[in-house]
Amino acid sequence: MIMSQTSNIPRRTFLKASAALAAGALFNPLAQAANERRTVIIDCDPGQDDAIAILFALGARDRLDVRALTAVAGNVPLNLTERNARIVRDWAGQTKTLPVYAGCPRPLMRPLITAANVHGKTGLEGVELHEPLAPVAQQHAVAYLIDTLKAAAPHSVTICAIGPLTNLATALTDAPEIRDGLREIVLMGGAFFERGNITPAAEFNVYVDPEAASIVFASGVPIVVLPRDVAVKAPITPARIAPIRAIGNRCGAIVADIMAAEVKYQKGRRGVEEAPMYDPTAAGYLVDPTLFKGRLVNVVVETTGQWTLGETVVDWSGHSGRAPNATWITDVDADAFYAALQASIATLP
Ligand code: BDR
Ligand code: CA
Repeated sequence: MIMSQTSNIPRRTFLKASAALAAGALFNPLAQAANERRTVIIDCDPGQDDAIAILFALGARDRLDVRALTAVAGNVPLNLTERNARIVRDWAGQTKTLPVYAGCPRPLMRPLITAANVHGKTGLEGVELHEPLAPVAQQHAVAYLIDTLKAAAPHSVTICAIGPLTNLATALTDAPEIRDGLREIVLMGGAFFERGNITPAAEFNVYVDPEAASIVFASGVPIVVLPRDVAVKAPITPARIAPIRAIGNRCGAIVADIMAAEVKYQKGRRGVEEAPMYDPTAAGYLVDPTLFKGRLVNVVVETTGQWTLGETVVDWSGHSGRAPNATWITDVDADAFYAALQASIATLP
């Protein structure tokens, strides 16, 4: 298991987590790493909640050194996700300092399924969009990932993956040695205790490109999963939107508008005035992992099931005998999470 190739912190965590797993306990992963500043690349498909996640991460400069955004097709086609990523960096005042790379235009083996019904035709329903202030980088996102991770210090870069995993799976397949540059993959995707959101069995990011997700989970790189199970435990509500709007800055207004659009959609669809908090939980985990709890488990992805395509099969009780390959997050201190989000957005323009 590639865990043995990881840096001291993930290795220590792995050993500690294994002990916790053996005891059947929940553990608090990476709590001991809470004071580090991480080098991060955000692989994304903006996407309303991607936009919030990106802003959350960019505002937390003291904790995260975000080097680039790599866009993938997902919520909307690639031409829109990469454009939206450039719009989000403009909002954050990082037009000149944060490169955006466009990656894979479709899943590895399947036609693209989008979520434009949820995120709107532009992918960023709920906010006014400007013409991006700067162009996309010339290099393909996969080439950027490979070059960067090959040149990186061992186990130094964290990928925050908040869309379908096509870019990452392609990079890991084309250049498996990039695992050595990776510290961890922190991804939003999957569902186990909660049902799916695109089919009864599957969550959107995994369902769109199950083969890519399967490659990533089999890669041996330490993975932290923020699934639907935790997204529903920190729902967006009008009461949680108000303090973010009250910050009074541009990004606060944008984040509040997007959240309000997400709540409006859920109200129309499910009749409740709240929306699951998806991608920002991955950013929140990076900002403060001590807010989250989970368990080190084995996760495999269903790639052939007639009714269960894209299901994340989590061996919560250790029945399979398969080695643990991911930390599956199930709990969050929701109030502290929203406080961290608010503090981060307050640092932006
Ligand atoms: C995930 O699917 C997308 O629609 C969101 O951006 C998020 O990444 C939630 O299932
Ligand atoms: Ca997303």
